[in-house]
Amino acid sequence: MAQRTLILVKPDGVKRNIIGDVISRIERKGLKVIALELRTIEVDTAHAHYAEHAEKPFFGELVDFITSGPLVALVAEGDRAIEAFRALAGATDPVKATPGTIRGDYALQVAQNIVHGSDSPESAEREIKIFFPELV
Ligand code: PPS
Repeated sequence: MAQRTLILVKPDGVKRNIIGDVISRIERKGLKVIALELRTIEVDTAHAHYAEHAEKPFFGELVDFITSGPLVALVAEGDRAIEAFRALAGATDPVKATPGTIRGDYALQVAQNIVHGSDSPESAEREIKIFFPELV
């Protein structure tokens, strides 16, 4: 049974012109892109997306960063899509991410780690509703 996940190429990834590489890795893996949009999100949308981190000390920095410029939001579909993309992305801390993963290849700072992927089926459903309400 196919699963869906919400993926973001964050503003740092867009600025560095690696949208194509991220999408290429998703497609090479065998996941299917079923929705995609380039947009700059509002603070309200960022708060909704990162609601579970509202109490974290880095929340303000996280919201400032994710609203700082255009990002690419997409939904990818396939067998165990959530786990498959998180393996492609690598560890949240890019210094710990294995070389060959997106974060392992492109980033040094946890605050600017190129991509986001849903971490559970519940998060995926919630996040897809925020970015692509027409899909739900
Ligand atoms: S936690 O505390 O384990 O739940 O957080 P974590 O899953 O590691 O990270 C959640 C998202 O917050 C980002 N993050 C940060 N941003 C700015 N500054 C600091 N110090 C920081 N630490 C974590 C991290 O990149 C995660 O973003 P997403 O988009 O979910 O990958």
